[in-house]
Amino acid sequence: MPYVTEMTITDIVLERWMAVPDPRLRQIMRSMIAHLHAFVREIEPTEEEWMTAIEWLTRTGKQSNDKRQEFILASDVVGVSMLVDCINHRLPGEVTPTTVTGPFHVHDSPELADGADIARGAPGEPCYITGSVRNLSGAPIAGATLDIWQADGEGLYDAQRGSDDPWMRGIFKSGDDGRFVVQTVLPVPYSIPMDGSVGEVMSRTGISPMRPSHIHFLIEAHGHRRLITHLFKRSCPYIETDVVYGVKAPLIAEFKLMPAGSTTPKGKIAERPCWLLEYDFVLQPVENASAAAPASAAA
Ligand code: BEZ
Ligand code: FE
Repeated sequence: MPYVTEMTITDIVLERWMAVPDPRLRQIMRSMIAHLHAFVREIEPTEEEWMTAIEWLTRTGKQSNDKRQEFILASDVVGVSMLVDCINHRLPGEVTPTTVTGPFHVHDSPELADGADIARGAPGEPCYITGSVRNLSGAPIAGATLDIWQADGEGLYDAQRGSDDPWMRGIFKSGDDGRFVVQTVLPVPYSIPMDGSVGEVMSRTGISPMRPSHIHFLIEAHGHRRLITHLFKRSCPYIETDVVYGVKAPLIAEFKLMPAGSTTPKGKIAERPCWLLEYDFVLQPVENASAAAPASAAA
């Protein structure tokens, strides 16, 4: 073995990791080592700085559990979650694009009837979401499942309110015409959690920790690829500076303010002004229809 020096160590390590039998693991580890060594050579950390990084990673691990995932948040704020999303969802332009799931999806949301109110007294301005789920030819998809979740009108999710009760979330089904109606409150911008190790770093950067106003959707239909996405409110001031880089142009939608006296999508007369979001989702067909729409979302 050659003597280890600053010049030789990268090659020596890469050579040893050539022996890994699993080709994918070998590829991933050797690439990671090569990039990590290049990074360390570039920044030339002091030993104290390297220990600071190790301690930060340790804190990030300790703050992660089944309710909170600080590592995902770390991946989000450096754009890696969205890069992985983009690589894995190279869809034709007409298909509704995907974006990050985020940490607030749950697997046991209540199943609700068309038109149901997910806000149930939550603070915020009344808002209706309506639209359809369609295939690439524009035909309606009946019986698609729409799992919808959002923060309330004060920018808080149920988990942040310490509530075990589902709050601001529900699972809906599209009708025979592919259409759906949901009653809710207007989403508002909110900050990512800043009380953990990611917040520690972000608060030293001057980068906005805000997510623009949005509503999350997970849509599944037989014969189609699962769609995990958000719709963003067009006029939101944070639309161009989303801290997790989740905004794709086709996901920016108009929330229209309707005056009192307007007819709501539920066919009732609005007693006070309310917001209306109309959107048609387009799903990508899968080659092998029997493999479509697995029952649950990725964490
Ligand atoms: C969210 O939209 O719920 C979210 C996504 C990424 C990080 C934090 C929050
Ligand atoms: Fe969110």
